[in-house]
Amino acid sequence: MVRDAYNRPVKDLRISVTDRCNFRCTYCMPMEEYVWIDRREILTFEEITRLARLFVGLGVEKIRITGGEPLVRKDLHRLVRMLNSLDGELDLCLTTNSSLLCDQIEDLAAAGLKRINVSIDTLDPEKFKQITKRGDLEKVLEGLFAAKSAGLGPIKINAVIERGLNDDDIVPLVEFAREHGFSMRFIEYMDVGNANNWISERIVSKKEILEKINARYPLREVGRENGSAPSVDYEFIDGGGELGVIASVTEPFCSSCTRARLTADGKLVTCLFSTHGHDLKSLMRSGATDEQLVELISSVWSNRTDKYSDERLAAMKSPEGYQPKQHQKIEMITLGG
Ligand code: GTP
Ligand code: 5AD
Ligand code: SF4
Ligand code: SF4
Repeated sequence: MVRDAYNRPVKDLRISVTDRCNFRCTYCMPMEEYVWIDRREILTFEEITRLARLFVGLGVEKIRITGGEPLVRKDLHRLVRMLNSLDGELDLCLTTNSSLLCDQIEDLAAAGLKRINVSIDTLDPEKFKQITKRGDLEKVLEGLFAAKSAGLGPIKINAVIERGLNDDDIVPLVEFAREHGFSMRFIEYMDVGNANNWISERIVSKKEILEKINARYPLREVGRENGSAPSVDYEFIDGGGELGVIASVTEPFCSSCTRARLTADGKLVTCLFSTHGHDLKSLMRSGATDEQLVELISSVWSNRTDKYSDERLAAMKSPEGYQPKQHQKIEMITLGG
């Protein structure tokens, strides 16, 4: 098993299948247009599956399909089937905005998709439109309930909380999730990419989020799944299910980060806040053998020293403070979170 400079193995692979998205969330990609990846550069399903197989050989146990919005990629269920056939034991999951899920969920489930995480930041249709610019909440909820009917579980709902925008949606989201058997996850607003206008004042901390929920529905901490998940999980004391909080800003979890990312154009990225990726596609398309590809992946991973969120927290606490604009990052829409 390959380990990085801080002894972290590679256990999760987040595969972005496209950088396109039918939404324009303010915290992710607020720009109407962007320099999108040229279609010829996008990995085929066969290329993705080949690389995924090599990562599984290196110790990856969980594969998450992301985007942009992964469901805008045609026939995604074909890829799910191909990945599932690598190893039936893989934790094979999808992060989606759910707007196109209704029509695809049956095929995805039949192909072996195990779990989905859906982004919903508010249950107010007007505010939902304001945050996503192009999103229709009704369509998203249809997709969410179609996934429930298809028997996928647990279904997690991701909500990025931004001060003054949707902090008053925390309790209504909790109530919705409790009522319908979903698992809510609240995410601290992060300075991903360069396109959003992140300022630290807009973060609602994990502490504040928990205080709001605890006042109405008391919680008990359960901990991090496998010790390495981004989310710290809690259960309701009254037995009403569980929820998670992802506190990348105020309580970073870099020391246990086992996540590798593959962009839609075949770059291996070792941190959500990386400035660049390592080009696996060019090597693959120039006729490299599996051994050569594994050698590159292993060398990149063993040299990995990323701990961006730890460093950001240290900078935020320093007298100079943290200057997000000083660091050019790959856009979130290219990395899929
Ligand atoms: P589970 O497998 O269900 O635990 O999902 P996940 O939380 O790993 O993935 P998801 O795509 O639902 O991401 C939820 C949030 O966590 C998003 O805002 C991601 O950007 C963030 N996230 C995921 N992995 C990392 C990470 O390694 N570092 C940081 N800083 N954030 C991450
Ligand atoms: N901060 C925190 N999470 C974000 N996401 C997108 N942009 C941000 C941000 N700036 C989340 C989305 C989605 C996941 C893939 O990443 O809500 O659920
Ligand atoms: Fe929003 Fe996800 Fe699209 Fe980003 S990729 S704009 S978070 S729906
Ligand atoms: Fe991993 Fe980078 Fe996130 Fe830290 S900031 S947890 S190293 S992806």
